[in-house]
Amino acid sequence: MAQLWGGRFTKETDKLVYNFNASISFDQKFYEQDIRGSRAHVKMLAKQGILTEEERDQILEGLDGILADVKADRLAITSEYEDIHSFVEANLIDRIGDPGKKLHTGRSRNDQVALDMKLYVRDEIDAIDQEVKALLLALQKIMEENIHTYMPGFTHLQKAQPVTLAHHVGAYFEMFRRDRSRLFDIRKRMNTCPLGAGALAGTTYPLDREYTAQLLDFDEPTRNSMDSVSDRDYVIELLSALSTIMMHLSRFSEEIILWNSNEYRFVEIDDAYSTGSSIMPQKKNPDIAELVRGKTGRVYGALTSMLTTMKGIPLAYNKDMQEDKELTFDAIDTVKGCLALFTGMVSTMQFNKANMEASAKNGFTNATDAADYLVNHGVPFRDAHGIVGQLVLKCIDKGISLDELSLAEYKEISPVFEQDIYEAISMKTCVEKRMTLGAPGPDVMEKVIAGNKKYLEEN
Ligand code: ARG
Repeated sequence: MAQLWGGRFTKETDKLVYNFNASISFDQKFYEQDIRGSRAHVKMLAKQGILTEEERDQILEGLDGILADVKADRLAITSEYEDIHSFVEANLIDRIGDPGKKLHTGRSRNDQVALDMKLYVRDEIDAIDQEVKALLLALQKIMEENIHTYMPGFTHLQKAQPVTLAHHVGAYFEMFRRDRSRLFDIRKRMNTCPLGAGALAGTTYPLDREYTAQLLDFDEPTRNSMDSVSDRDYVIELLSALSTIMMHLSRFSEEIILWNSNEYRFVEIDDAYSTGSSIMPQKKNPDIAELVRGKTGRVYGALTSMLTTMKGIPLAYNKDMQEDKELTFDAIDTVKGCLALFTGMVSTMQFNKANMEASAKNGFTNATDAADYLVNHGVPFRDAHGIVGQLVLKCIDKGISLDELSLAEYKEISPVFEQDIYEAISMKTCVEKRMTLGAPGPDVMEKVIAGNKKYLEEN
């Protein structure tokens, strides 16, 4: 049991208490960030004359050695230390002796852990952003290739109007693009350096907080030391953004599961991204999409846990906040894993274009266009709606689609119909006439895709 605080105690910590209190099993994940923070702190202490340059160089060398040894598996982070901060400090003292004992001058584990967590979250925001971007690139490719791939658009999961695959996938492009902008906002707002806040009230040493902030690529130091050590808003914001990413992935997964089913057969998930059944030899299951949908609950859980943990904490640091780590790390790893697998799945998936188009044709998705035809010939929309309703009823009765009715049958219900009704309700017309910004018409879709391309090149 290696602790940093034995002085005022007369008894050993109970073993169960030690284990309950310790965080090394999970905070070892940010050993790299902890060392990065210490390096900046030591450089600042020397710049301010609080440490000598020689002490600084010895400490920096020692820290670099620890980092290299942990990375190369020459030095194991073990449970004999309470937390990652104790591990690094104890190892430093082992290596370089007395100068190592000066590392923690003008610092508390409270501002240290606040810094480590921020550095970790910031690094991970960048990594997640790249995963979302990889997904956007995969979606962009599908869009480019499917401007003319017709499929039914749904509302209430009932066929509504024809769209294209590019248009449908384009909706997800927008969602994930917003997700990236949310990550960007969080990163910007959280980018202030808590180091120098001490335990809660700053320190009496003449620290240069601007300098440490600059060394660690923060925009500026935090402005209130009590807030610095107890702010976990950015963790909550991140978990909220991650929950939204998962919600988007889960909606898309749900659609892919439906599309991959025997009833739809719109897509075929690649063998490499499917699994089989131990009993039913014919099965090829969309487990990856199901797992992504399932893991969404776990990330929402992290957000709820963190909000609940923080709601009753008096200022400033309290140990409750140690709970931020496991759930944040788990949520980050879950989201990164889901994004990578999902991108692999969608970019290897085959689209069954003929089935999509056939499905768009047989569900009266052109009924609105038949009504619009009447409107274009002077019939008020409400009357046109009623007329086409009667035509649909007739088709259902005969088991045919609108374009299979004869002109005589059209005219029986309204004399306004002429031969050109067939062209007016063809799938091609239905899609291509929808040319306003945001609609599936190929011309406007091409413009949107070009805009997306520019965005992906610049961001
Ligand atoms: N393991 C602690 C945490 O994660 C580090 C800070 C400890 N500070 C303290 N005063 N005990 O929050």
